[in-house]
Amino acid sequence: MVKARRLATKRGGELRIAFEGETITAFEGETLASALLAAGVAAFSLTRTGEPRLPFCNMGTCFDCAVRVDDRELVRACLTDVREGMRVRRQEVK
Ligand code: FES
Repeated sequence: MVKARRLATKRGGELRIAFEGETITAFEGETLASALLAAGVAAFSLTRTGEPRLPFCNMGTCFDCAVRVDDRELVRACLTDVREGMRVRRQEVK
């Protein structure tokens, strides 16, 4: 029987970002999508009917993880590394 082996990893330094005005703790080297999901964010954006949207592909093709970062629209959270002081808001559906 083959057994899975857990690799030792070292987490990056702690940093702070803001999502919808709330402070979230993240770690250097994480993607924004990982940090938001780990913090329990339940919707990266809302559809026109108010349904939550969350990452689907996690590799940059679906845009379901789109958020606004420092007033830049349609930033794919799954392709974006966190950095200290990021201001993140839900992407508005127009
Ligand atoms: S989760 Fe699909 S583009 Fe980010």
